[in-house]
Amino acid sequence: MAESACEYKPGLEGIPAAQSSVSYVDGGKGVLEYRGINIEELAKNSTFLETAYLLIWGELPTTQELAKFEADIIEHRWIKYHIRDMMKCFPEGGHPMDALQASAAALGLFYSRRALDDPQYIYQAVVRILAKIPTMVAAFHQLRNGNDPVKPVGDLGYAGNFLYMLTEKKPEPLVARIFDVCLTLHAEHTINASTFAALVTASTLTDPYAVIASAVGTLAGPLHGGANEEVLAMLKEINSVENVRPFVEERIAKKEKIMGFGHRVYKVKDPRATILQSLAERLFDLIGFDNYYEIALELEKVVGEKLGHKGIYANVDFYSGLVYRRLGIPTDLFTPMFAIARVAGWLAHWKEQLSINRIYRPTQVYVGNHNIQYVAIQERNGR
Ligand code: CMC
Repeated sequence: MAESACEYKPGLEGIPAAQSSVSYVDGGKGVLEYRGINIEELAKNSTFLETAYLLIWGELPTTQELAKFEADIIEHRWIKYHIRDMMKCFPEGGHPMDALQASAAALGLFYSRRALDDPQYIYQAVVRILAKIPTMVAAFHQLRNGNDPVKPVGDLGYAGNFLYMLTEKKPEPLVARIFDVCLTLHAEHTINASTFAALVTASTLTDPYAVIASAVGTLAGPLHGGANEEVLAMLKEINSVENVRPFVEERIAKKEKIMGFGHRVYKVKDPRATILQSLAERLFDLIGFDNYYEIALELEKVVGEKLGHKGIYANVDFYSGLVYRRLGIPTDLFTPMFAIARVAGWLAHWKEQLSINRIYRPTQVYVGNHNIQYVAIQERNGR
């Protein structure tokens, strides 16, 4: 007989694990709001840093608040030589998400003061994390290619500076703007796996760097942030518009997932996928077409036909890979870029968790045995 009367829900589907005012999703209508503001409005009118401020402090900043926030972030974009030297020891073939997780955790060694009830400490930690994460991603990329990290520059915005540190070329303003919108779209998405990991870690009152490192490790998996990399691998494998239908039919017959489709919450097309698709088209108009795009369009059509009745449509990862590929960003940096953006959401939930904290300690339904006798090792060998 079961030990507990609780009903176990695999994946905690439908079980509220937090109360939050950070963001809201209506999966049936395809609505996403950050602090009550629709994502389409933010994508059109805001910047990533302004949106990050909104998510973390709960309201849009004044001109003065935003100017200070942006200036503080520019000031903290540098990483310590010790961190750069530590990153030099990472294997060049290692995944950039592993490098990011290790570097984010290492920040805790260098900024070890912990004063979670001090608003100034919270502000400093937010600024430091938002400022240094892109620098660490770009630094690892340069180091693994045998180059010195490119120093951040103060005259470029958050997105433009990241692209510059990655390529050593100042991006066109429209390219920087498109990348900035990509960051805004990925900044927050209620209580998904990585945010839940962040909340659980935050609830122990550990330092914010451990919170971010734990969330980065969770985002790395192929069912979460890693899907955008898999989308590109899949488009490469399909290789032509004609191959799309047989590919989808084979995957469905083998009960295999088609990457970039489906969502636990959205049962219609993810609103972020719609915005990303139009950004991809703007980018193609500016710097030329991507030959995977036609394959992607056909794939979306065929998946809609075959799986639409199950509520499986394109999610945020489907078009983000195409945008990043056209920007010349290596595939294994797609998930770190998701992380750069999602840091804003993780920090917002960390701050919210601190204000209402109770340590997470869920229960379990025990399905093992009782009263089993210990068997001496000599007697186990013939098993
Ligand atoms: N391709 C084919 N079938 C699918 C897909 C898919 N991408 N997604 C769900 N299904 C089917 C699944 O086979 C199952 O069918 P049945 O009921 O007949 O067994 C049904 O839909 C429910 O699937 P599930 O895996 O139980 O759904 P879930 O809510 O646990 O998973 C998901 C959600 C996002 C993990 C899943 O849709 C998936 O693995 N998608 C592919 C990976 C992906 O694109 N991930 C990015 C998600 S969005 C960004 C993020 O959160 O990081």
